[in-house]
Amino acid sequence: MEVVVTRDEFRKATSAARAAGSRLGLVPTMGAFHEGHMSLLQAAASSCDVVAASIFVNPLQFSSAADLARYPANLELDMAMAQAAGVGLLFAPSVSEMYPRGEPETRVEPGGLADRLEGASRPGHFAGVATVVTKLLSLSGRCGAYFGEKDFQQLAVVRRLVADLDLDVEIVGCPTVREPDGLACSSRNRLLGPDDRRAAGVLFKALGAGRAALVTGARHSAEVEAAMVAVVAAEPRARLDYAVVVDPVTFESPAPLSGGLRLLIAAQVGPVRLIDNLGVET
Ligand code: PAJ
Repeated sequence: MEVVVTRDEFRKATSAARAAGSRLGLVPTMGAFHEGHMSLLQAAASSCDVVAASIFVNPLQFSSAADLARYPANLELDMAMAQAAGVGLLFAPSVSEMYPRGEPETRVEPGGLADRLEGASRPGHFAGVATVVTKLLSLSGRCGAYFGEKDFQQLAVVRRLVADLDLDVEIVGCPTVREPDGLACSSRNRLLGPDDRRAAGVLFKALGAGRAALVTGARHSAEVEAAMVAVVAAEPRARLDYAVVVDPVTFESPAPLSGGLRLLIAAQVGPVRLIDNLGVET
């Protein structure tokens, strides 16, 4: 596995791979790898000749300095896991390498899709994500880029930015990988103490209650959302941010509910804000 730390080296290595006729797969990450990241790397390895991964904890997408400061990091372990997953090229730039002129004056500002839910709770978050993802896709050039459904709104924002800006990239969405109790794997899970870790299972339970409401015939978003709210309310360690049912493309709640839908939830559990989502066919 080749490890590069400058934009120039990364651009040259991805261009060289393409020039040699290889199909390139890119997996952008913030490191602290877990099974969710591994599934993306494996999906890329199964359909691409060369897998490139980036590890960069992007300060632009954090709304609080405290959240950024405690974001877990373990580059040595990540490198070993990346190698095991078949990564051929690892890009691990510093903040000053990615943003050599300090905070960029030019940012990619996603539209209305990014204003609601995660965007409403974390102002500026999706502009930070869209800006760094655009930079990474610009550096890597033509590729398949792999993103997790775990961050469902992020995936939608990235798909839309690639379409709006005519980037030469195929976005591939990959299913959410979960712990045995249903909790979606996340780098932030390791910040949970044992009691909060047990309580964190409530997000997936709430999604299950939302799905049960839909499959037993609920067709109004208020009913489905109330089923999810009730589950979270019964867990004293969790504080709900939102629990909604939306159309997976527009992120609006259709009335009455029909077709393919997405349940999305966010809650604070102890020191950590967790998000999750589930697709349901009605
Ligand atoms: P990060 O949280 O490290 O996630 C990197 C990728 O892994 C994202 O596409 C995310 O959706 C995916 N992922 C995380 N947990 C997952 C799980 N349990 N199952 C499946 N996929 C999962 O998301 C980011 O980094 C950043 O915002 C980034 C896109 C790298 C831009 O900075």
